[in-house]
Amino acid sequence: MKLGVCWAPEQHPRATWGPDVERMAALGLTTVRLGEFAWSTYEPERERFVWDWLDEAVDRLDGAGLEVVLATPTATPPAWLLAERPDIARVGPDGRRATHGSRRHTCPTSPAYREEAARIVAALVARYGEHPAVVAWQVDNEPGNHATARCWCDACSEAFTGWLRDRFPDVTALNAAWAGPFWSTDYRDLADVALPVPTVTAHDPALELAHRRFGSRQHAAAVSAQRDLIRAGSPGRDVFTNVYLGDLDLDPRELARPSGLAAADSYPHGLDGPAEVAFHLDLNRGLALPADTGPEARGGRGWIAEQQPGPVNWVHDNPAVPPGQVRLWCWQAALHGTERTLLFRWRAARRGQEQHHAAVLRHDGTEAAVAAEIRRLVTELPAAPERPPATVALPFAHLDGWQLEIQPHLPGATHRELAVTAHAAAARFGLDVDVVPDDADLAAYAVVLAPALHTVTPDRLRRLEAALDAGSLVVLGPRSLVRDGDAAWTDVPLPAGFTARLGARLDHVGSPAGWPRDPADVSRVRVGDEVLPAGAWIETSVLDAPDVEVLATADGGPLHGAPVVIRRGGLVHLGTASRAVWVAVLGRLLGRVPHPAHLEVLTRAGREVVLDHRARTVTGLPGVTPG
Ligand code: GAL
Repeated sequence: MKLGVCWAPEQHPRATWGPDVERMAALGLTTVRLGEFAWSTYEPERERFVWDWLDEAVDRLDGAGLEVVLATPTATPPAWLLAERPDIARVGPDGRRATHGSRRHTCPTSPAYREEAARIVAALVARYGEHPAVVAWQVDNEPGNHATARCWCDACSEAFTGWLRDRFPDVTALNAAWAGPFWSTDYRDLADVALPVPTVTAHDPALELAHRRFGSRQHAAAVSAQRDLIRAGSPGRDVFTNVYLGDLDLDPRELARPSGLAAADSYPHGLDGPAEVAFHLDLNRGLALPADTGPEARGGRGWIAEQQPGPVNWVHDNPAVPPGQVRLWCWQAALHGTERTLLFRWRAARRGQEQHHAAVLRHDGTEAAVAAEIRRLVTELPAAPERPPATVALPFAHLDGWQLEIQPHLPGATHRELAVTAHAAAARFGLDVDVVPDDADLAAYAVVLAPALHTVTPDRLRRLEAALDAGSLVVLGPRSLVRDGDAAWTDVPLPAGFTARLGARLDHVGSPAGWPRDPADVSRVRVGDEVLPAGAWIETSVLDAPDVEVLATADGGPLHGAPVVIRRGGLVHLGTASRAVWVAVLGRLLGRVPHPAHLEVLTRAGREVVLDHRARTVTGLPGVTPG
């Protein structure tokens, strides 16, 4: 894995540039990303482009042997542009047009925004497209972040009608697919379907889901327009769009797949812990995978476009980062197969919004503690063995996340939480997991973990069936195979399409708690002799066939005695959100004993490599000292 940094020369005195570039190279860094917010410096007024600063920065980096990732600045159009063309701005659900002053204040549908974005990107590509130091382009910066994935402007409203026309032959079809007469939400014309603004209680989930899908598609189209310009003018370079996967409202696969390269911004302090970080690393890489791929793709291509280098400035308590932690995060990324990791940022900002954000250099230009960790990493990382093909696939699609976000039913059982639970459970047994698209070749994996594969489609059913027919172990988790792509609940027993094969159907789906609420009146789950917490969500089954094996039952509480985990042949239904139950059941199915939760044990080049997330050490790599 190559290491690099994100640098914002336009924010620092020019006198620092030369020495800073030399220091980057001396540290052993290879890659520098720049330019992602620099529109006002590229173009201080319309058509007056100022390139001397960027020429100097790029040439200095080139001179020092550093590779350049140039970013398009379309997340921060300058004030003059917004004043001239106010219709580039995003409009919120309250009808208010975004003003200048922060970032992500644009609408991806706005023809004016598309035009202006194309203009600045074309100018950048014309000047730097063939520069030998430029190895990659970043398109935009974190589209959809800060809850900006959806927009309510007039252009979106009009385009949304067009999107509906592409999906439905006429309004009768939409009324049949959506809530229709329920609460009188049927329509007389497709053009009458308004974007969902706040109401006293819920909208039709089909409308909410459609707006999310539409918003995601609009961002993907805006990114793709930029990507096309770059590909034409800067051939042979990688092109990607960075995203923060933590709470993303748009589908990052729509951005990564056409790029063939995914890029995540890794800020572990925004996440729950190392298990969720590991999930994100595998998710990131899988986002670029084309349809029908299996383990031979080794999880897909992924970069970390931004890596937390110390404390950040935006989580509620911004914890300290102890010695060895950044090194361990980077090792974790490398062992999960990340190609490059760029630390965000090189030099701490003395002005502006992110003054409290850690950097490689402090505000006074001296090295922060992380610099020593970088020195170690650049000598150690060449020893990083390749990630082997995984045996486990975990299909993951944003569509399911949206469905559960729109109707969560109760807290603690989101798509992400359920997927992280399954991924973390597999990791306890040292298994590599490919987090794959739902159109992957599932049959090529020995094990398929499918938690919260909520949406039922014929293609999904076919791929799961094919995996079972090929002899894979398929574990359907909770909230699986429930609704169609228009948020309508299936009219067959759950899990839809698999009750015959399972010899059972679901009975209770939801909370393990009884009423009146009493902490003692909550069902737990018995797996053999162990009685474990049920987690936020539990599903129990009614058995229809005599040969269904019951691996776990509800213990106590309102569901006492009901089957919670059942198996028939290669198909398992694991009806709980509890990580403890997932670990216990997988242990039985695989005949293995789990590693302690703080140890991430990976097999690399035939050896056991252990990341100790408590001691912050990495052991098992020849020539690499653990801590
Ligand atoms: C990212 C963003 C960066 C910076 C960073 C701070 O979301 O892309 O520009 O703001 O967060 O952690």
